[in-house]
Amino acid sequence: MRRPMVAGNWKMHGTRASVAELIKGLRQLALAPGVDVAVFPPCLYISQVIEGLAGKSMAVGAQNCAIEPFQGALTGEIAASQLQDAGCSLVLVGHSERRMLLGENDGAVARKFAAAQSCGLTPVLCVGETQAQREAGKTLEVVGRQLDGVIESLGVGVFARAIIAYEPVWAIGTGLTASPAEAQTVHAAVRAQLAAENADVARGVRILYGGSVKAASAAELFSMQDIDGGLVGGASLNADEFGAICRAAGN
Ligand code: 13P
Repeated sequence: MRRPMVAGNWKMHGTRASVAELIKGLRQLALAPGVDVAVFPPCLYISQVIEGLAGKSMAVGAQNCAIEPFQGALTGEIAASQLQDAGCSLVLVGHSERRMLLGENDGAVARKFAAAQSCGLTPVLCVGETQAQREAGKTLEVVGRQLDGVIESLGVGVFARAIIAYEPVWAIGTGLTASPAEAQTVHAAVRAQLAAENADVARGVRILYGGSVKAASAAELFSMQDIDGGLVGGASLNADEFGAICRAAGN
């Protein structure tokens, strides 16, 4: 049985004051014991969030890490070892906003994935197709290639200590959600791709869905066989809405 997880990606949102408000709201949430909950604040606020959520069982992660695992001369970047030192346990790698706007390719994503694991962080590998790729019938090919980028350089075994997030680019921040059946098709294909090399790893890995997840759509998405929770953007900035999504994962 895979333990469901709901993760909030705050993206480039927040000020010290709004983060303090959000922490206050998160502290008040009644969380289901069977669901893992995590938040990914902007790096600048990670310490504030870790201190603010002390004693609350919520993991804190970063939205990115450097391709090099350890501190060194790499201006503007943050090493996985530094994130671990700050108290993070997870890190997103390969979010589509970084792939598309910052030109992050599969090679860089694999290096970040490896850097995260070498420092004891759990990478959350984000994959997903654009609208044009979906319309061209290339969804499974694109997602399969993104997954292969990691498998070919690091081996399938690394997914025993990782999480995958399927986030169709056309559903991110648009209010459009993949239907539960559409999402399930991709999640099942991702799991099958891993299973072709290692059935145990495939069975154990959690695959989250992301893309306009709201409290109203969460329960139906999370009821699908291969959807193990959600990676939530906009709705995670509202503690009550985020809490409702976390509860949906527990039912
Ligand atoms: P939205 O929930 O705002 O669509 O964002 C999804 C996402 O990109 C999470 O990483």
